[in-house]
Amino acid sequence: MTLGEVLAGATDYLAKRGVESARLDAERLLARALGLSRIELYTQHDRPLTEAERDAARELVQRRGAREPLAYVLGDWDFRRLTLRTDARALVPRPETEIVVERCLDLLRGVDEPRVLDVGTGSGAIALALAHEHPGARVVATDASQAALDLAQENAREHGLDVTFVQADLLDGLDGPFGLVVSNPPYVESDELAALEPEVRDWEPRSALVDEGQTGRLIADASRVLEGWLVLEVHERHACDIAALLATTGYDSVRITLDLAGKERVVEARWQQTR
Ligand SMILES: C[S@@+](CC[C@H](N)C(=O)[O-])C[C@H]1O[C@@H](n2cnc3c(N)ncnc32)[C@H](O)[C@@H]1O
Repeated sequence: MTLGEVLAGATDYLAKRGVESARLDAERLLARALGLSRIELYTQHDRPLTEAERDAARELVQRRGAREPLAYVLGDWDFRRLTLRTDARALVPRPETEIVVERCLDLLRGVDEPRVLDVGTGSGAIALALAHEHPGARVVATDASQAALDLAQENAREHGLDVTFVQADLLDGLDGPFGLVVSNPPYVESDELAALEPEVRDWEPRSALVDEGQTGRLIADASRVLEGWLVLEVHERHACDIAALLATTGYDSVRITLDLAGKERVVEARWQQTR
């Protein structure tokens, strides 16, 4: 079979299993299995594949056909300027979280060596992007999951970024002051879970998805360690309430930022009272 025939077959296989971007995913998986760029898939379209090449491609395509997230099958995923290792130990970093990082960088502009805390770091995405794009930042990152922290540590090592990782329940045991606390806590409501795509519902860690009151607890405790900005990724339905809560509990400069789909996704506010 030629590469072109295998690509067409893989696309069909994925489409039949409900993968929305079947052609694109098939291209990315074949390119990875064969060690080619996506352009080379087309320049070598008529080349017959060896049995070993077909086996390698089949393994990846079958995993994707079982609705395993593309990022887990590939084993890496781009987040801002970094390519991060991704697997079932942590949530796949999302495009909307890049906007969270953008807001943090804006708020930290002009501050040479801010102390920054990323709560619930998962793959390390936010913490590592901040350390990378604001090189003076001294970044601490926490997670309740040791498996996620191991992955984040591997990503830090891979990119030579200096982030301190701590296993903790939210802010327990942490002392400030931090100039910025950022978090993308779990915010899927348990009754929403069943309606999510299988990639999310069946493969990503439940503890990274389902809201168990982390956002409320974080807001209640954040002012203890904060001398500056709190930046939260939130459920779009809760952004207004969270903004109002922050305003009534003594934060100022409250602002909501939309994600690329126009949903109210990021809430930020400043705490500058003496503790
Ligand atoms: C939505 S994921 C975000 C991961 C990563 N920050 C990102 O944006 O891709 C939430 C993370 O919070 C962690 N988490 C959940 N409950 C926690 C808690 N009580 N304390 C610390 N981390 C928690 C989960 O293990 C998970 O890694």
